[in-house]
Amino acid sequence: MRRRRASRVVVVVGASSGIGRATAHLLARRGDTVVLASRSAGALADVARECRAALPARGEARVVVVPVDVAVRESVERLFEVTRERVGRIDAVVHAPAVVAYGHFEEIPGEVFDQVMAVNLLGTANVARAALRYFKAADEAGRRRRGGHLVVIGSLLGRIATPWMSPYVVSKWAVHGLARTLQAEVRHVRGVDVSMVYPGGVDTPIYSQAANFAGRVGRPPPPVDRPETVARAIVRTLDRPRREVSVGLANRFEAFGFRYLPAVFDWLVGPIMSRAGLSRTPTEPTTGNVFGPLPAGDAVHGQWGRHWLRGVGVGAVGVVVAGSGRWGSGRWGSGRWGSERWGTRRGLPRRTGARQG
Ligand SMILES: NC(=O)c1ccc[n+]([C@@H]2O[C@H](COP(=O)([O-])OP(=O)(O)OC[C@H]3O[C@@H](n4cnc5c(N)ncnc54)[C@H](OP(=O)(O)O)[C@@H]3O)[C@@H](O)[C@H]2O)c1
Repeated sequence: MRRRRASRVVVVVGASSGIGRATAHLLARRGDTVVLASRSAGALADVARECRAALPARGEARVVVVPVDVAVRESVERLFEVTRERVGRIDAVVHAPAVVAYGHFEEIPGEVFDQVMAVNLLGTANVARAALRYFKAADEAGRRRRGGHLVVIGSLLGRIATPWMSPYVVSKWAVHGLARTLQAEVRHVRGVDVSMVYPGGVDTPIYSQAANFAGRVGRPPPPVDRPETVARAIVRTLDRPRREVSVGLANRFEAFGFRYLPAVFDWLVGPIMSRAGLSRTPTEPTTGNVFGPLPAGDAVHGQWGRHWLRGVGVGAVGVVVAGSGRWGSGRWGSGRWGSERWGTRRGLPRRTGARQG
């Protein structure tokens, strides 16, 4: 006979939009108590209504809203205190918050770069620290360790690099490093797990909410998954802790190319990013949701749909081009084939003021 799974208490940080919101829906549907956290109390109230409607008719699961800014350590500590007071325990934390800034590295204002680091990297560290202190502490009766599971959402861009997204790429590389370090540290701590789920392109509002100094609105490069696909992977990981879970058809292929064929990768990444990673929609310079929430833009889905077939096409072209005899010819890394050529001739973000290289 199949045993009924015990209901858990899961804190979903970054629950107001995209992958976090889809994960909160799924957990509520399964009968888990969800604690919804992000900066925008208004957007979280909407998500709370959706989750309450999804809760099974029978069961003790609840939906609780606790606003937090992960870039502020005291705010994160308060999230854990309030959750303990209101719910009594925490079994798992899903950490999803991130913000993006597009543009040439030198044209992204320093304070925008710093704040992307504060949210994506320091925010992850703040939540991980509070979660691990809670999980490693003795339970309320003082008899045994509480235990718990931290699931960090990384990114394919924590494995590869792409132009015009430098703060995000740097922060995600650091987040991957932090997650691996924590995994090594908790290896012998019974009952405490740290997992990393890293998606490729996902159709969420993160692209339209981003800071932008590139002149064109960003979009997920194909293959594009739905946020629900990533949410299912997160919930599977909560059920069965794993070190790393990749979500995305091309993740391993792209990571392999980045690592073992760097010249080929650099040759392709500019044109692919220009055509598939930036839309044709123009935009004025904006700091987007980097310094504060833009609740009107929060939703589960973005506006880009699912273009995974196009992704297969792009991948296939990449393979064919890579195999077409240029390898070893010395032309891969040259300026002639480099991304700047595309930058000037194919309408990539032009540098404001500075001469295009
Ligand atoms: N979408 C993709 O293609 C993709 C690909 C790979 C990895 N990922 C990763 O998946 C995760 C979720 O991204 P998403 O696409 O679902 O993005 P999203 O739709 O923009 O959602 C981001 C969430 O983070 C919250 N957030 C932002 N700054 C915050 C802060 N300072 N404090 C607390 N919460 C904050 C936002 O809410 P508030 O604005 O209300 O705070 C929102 O709930 C991120 O870690 C991202 O890097 C996404």
